[in-house]
Amino acid sequence: MKICVLPGDGIGPEIMAEAVRVLNALGLGFEMEEAHLGGCAVDATGSPYPEATQKLALAADAVLLGAVGGPKWDTLPREQRPERGLLGIRKQLNLFANLRPAILYPELANASTLKPEVVAGLDILIVRELTGDIYFGQPRGIEVRDVDGQSQRFGFNTMHYTESEIRRIGRVAFEAARKRNRKLCSVDKMNVLETTQLWRDVMNELAPEYPDVELTHMLVDNAAMQLVKAPKQFDVMVTGNMFGDILSDEASMLTGSIGMLPSASLDANNKGLYEPSHGSAPDIAGKGIANPLATILSAAMMLRYTFNQEEAAQRVEGAVKKVLAQGFRTGDIYEPGTKKVGTKEMGDAVLAAL
Ligand code: IPM
Ligand code: MG
Repeated sequence: MKICVLPGDGIGPEIMAEAVRVLNALGLGFEMEEAHLGGCAVDATGSPYPEATQKLALAADAVLLGAVGGPKWDTLPREQRPERGLLGIRKQLNLFANLRPAILYPELANASTLKPEVVAGLDILIVRELTGDIYFGQPRGIEVRDVDGQSQRFGFNTMHYTESEIRRIGRVAFEAARKRNRKLCSVDKMNVLETTQLWRDVMNELAPEYPDVELTHMLVDNAAMQLVKAPKQFDVMVTGNMFGDILSDEASMLTGSIGMLPSASLDANNKGLYEPSHGSAPDIAGKGIANPLATILSAAMMLRYTFNQEEAAQRVEGAVKKVLAQGFRTGDIYEPGTKKVGTKEMGDAVLAAL
């Protein structure tokens, strides 16, 4: 059971330290090895996804990632930006299925900016395709071209999906819905984009294989609206890379803090990369105040999906629920009357609850 640990940038190393402590406390004998990804990797080697990291990630059963990126690297050429490292590892490991749950813990109902009655009991799973779409499509670039009678800069990207790419993510979503409330909403923009007409067609073709799951479709602009209007209508949502990127950030905020939400990115054999849904938060890096719970919950997803250790996964998730019930809060989820703690104290509380 080999885990490649990639703390990354910003708050990454701080939150990762707590997740590693939790994993060690389980006593399951994981072999963990650390490497660089993102800005720290650029600083150390010049590349955001260096060869040594590639070797370790390819050899591991799972990858646990903190976060990458920060203003320090924003002006580098595109190939050297931390985000390229993240896209690179997802692509190289074929992690096409991104699972992003948005769950509202009852103790945190006040952390949401939406009315409690709109979000109470919220439990959505967004299934985002992660290795295709306009994020990877060629050709792409910025070039000087003759357009409309003048030589000018021209920016272009390419959105495309093959039917097999759509089918494999569709199957993951139908299977996930089967284990939940059996409702799947597929999100597209078929009224404008041919690629997403194909998306809708393929989802419809899959539906007869899953007669126990109710499949519906929604246009992405309406889905963005419905998510804030009546989010509890959703169980599982499935969509392409770009729409999923945007809708999953939106869904996470329904729960009040992105600091609570884990994610899993899986290949066809349940090898996975697990990371919190939030970013590297450079503004609070090094201060010891970041919320480690999303990373700890990502480790729980790793136990469940890659290592098939459902009991251990539930133990970790139970410990997180317990510390919330005990009133421990990092700054992002703090409200008067609760107990404000830093990153390490939150880790201590989870270990004690375990
Ligand atoms: C995410 C992030 C990444 C993405 C960026 C950092 C490349 O926004 O994981 O959602 O767009 O996938
Ligand atoms: Mg994103």
